[in-house]
Amino acid sequence: MSRTVVRGGLVITAAEETHADVLIENGRIAALAASDSPAATGWTAGADRVLDATGRYVIPGGVDAHTHMELPFGGTAASDTFESGTRAAAWGGTTTIIDFAVQSQGAALRAGLDTWHAKADGQCAIDYAFHMIVSDVNDATLREMDGLVAEGLTSFKLFMAYPGVFYSDDGQILRAMQQAGGNGGLIMMHAENGLAIDVLVQQALARGDTDPRFHGEVRKALLEAEATHRAIRLAQVAGAPLYVVHVSAREAAAELARARAEELPVFGETCPQYLFLSTDNLAEPGFEGAKYVCSTPLRPKEHQAALWRALRRDDLQVVSTDHCPFCFAGQKELGRGDFSKIPNGLPGVENRMDLLHQAVVDGHLSRRRWIELACAAPARMFGLYPKKGTLAPGADADLVIYDPHAEQTVSAATHHMNVDYSAYEGRRLTGRVQTVLSRGEPVITDREFTGRAGHGAYTPRGTCQYLH
Ligand code: URP
Ligand code: ZN
Ligand code: ZN
Repeated sequence: MSRTVVRGGLVITAAEETHADVLIENGRIAALAASDSPAATGWTAGADRVLDATGRYVIPGGVDAHTHMELPFGGTAASDTFESGTRAAAWGGTTTIIDFAVQSQGAALRAGLDTWHAKADGQCAIDYAFHMIVSDVNDATLREMDGLVAEGLTSFKLFMAYPGVFYSDDGQILRAMQQAGGNGGLIMMHAENGLAIDVLVQQALARGDTDPRFHGEVRKALLEAEATHRAIRLAQVAGAPLYVVHVSAREAAAELARARAEELPVFGETCPQYLFLSTDNLAEPGFEGAKYVCSTPLRPKEHQAALWRALRRDDLQVVSTDHCPFCFAGQKELGRGDFSKIPNGLPGVENRMDLLHQAVVDGHLSRRRWIELACAAPARMFGLYPKKGTLAPGADADLVIYDPHAEQTVSAATHHMNVDYSAYEGRRLTGRVQTVLSRGEPVITDREFTGRAGHGAYTPRGTCQYLH
């Protein structure tokens, strides 16, 4: 039996904060007890490893429910592999990712899932799971969804955007929602009116409006809000729950708030880029704005306050990254002279826990809400709780010792993501990951990488735990 004791830290979960020692046995949390209590004092004798967390936070490992390692997209592929991306995630205090396997047009869901397993198997430093992008809703794929839910792939992303790529029409969306309503699955929606956006894209290019900032201008907040409203009502008709991904517009957040006030089982996530960046970044001179091209797009700064409020009021439940990195050189540059050819996506898997801690420092969130949004809620939303997302007896010992006083400056020169820029370059943050355990194994030890590719295990999931 292997035994680790984490001593003297302030243990923070979504539910409570307490000065406690943590006993880990065979990769799981065995017990928590007040620091210096007779029970805790006895644990150190015979422990294989004692980690001193005095003056630090002890928090659950982050659960990032939205990543795209190695995603083929926009004529290229996301630059982080499962190996580099999960290592970077660990550096940032995230110990579980849920990535998206992709169904190719005309192919079976299973074929897409097999491809993604082959990419990830033996590569990951931390545990991982999959959602499925359904890009071809038909009788066969609807039937396949039932089997996937039964085996632990319980969420399916549909797109109202990207006609000709991932796009589903309203009839297909309704059918997939009906299927999920019957089998316990959760539909995740990319809610933007892609057909209308494509018209605006062509009109902008015809006018000669080709710079990155026009990406934000054509993907209008109202077209996000309209699609969000439509998705909500389609889900209501289908009798199915709905999770809206990467909410960036305050009008879209308002649609979710209205639906939740009606007690509909509707949920949403936002991402750090929408909380910390804005259209000012998209408008940076030269072609620099390409670094910030993602969809849904960054919005004017005024939207940020509405998103913070939605997070505090639980109108949005989760913060994940939508990590989808493309290097500036050779990848983002594909769109010089035509913003519609800039691959959509931002890096961020390494930055999420720290940026949200900064939100605590800045007074946007409480410490417990930080842990809820980044760890507990994504685990509950996607059927991983309490194995993941909390520190409690029986949970996996995915644990972070976090120094809330350390100062850092975010930079591509020091980050571990396989991408040549940082969306947060030069930003000064208070707080930093010190040590990370994944199922009790040290992955980061006092800011040294001590993990290994292949430690991370595929983790089948249950169904959404907000519904029962
Ligand atoms: O720009 C983004 N979000 N890229 C990743 C694909 C998606 O829509 O999530
Ligand atoms: Zn999306
Ligand atoms: Zn995404």
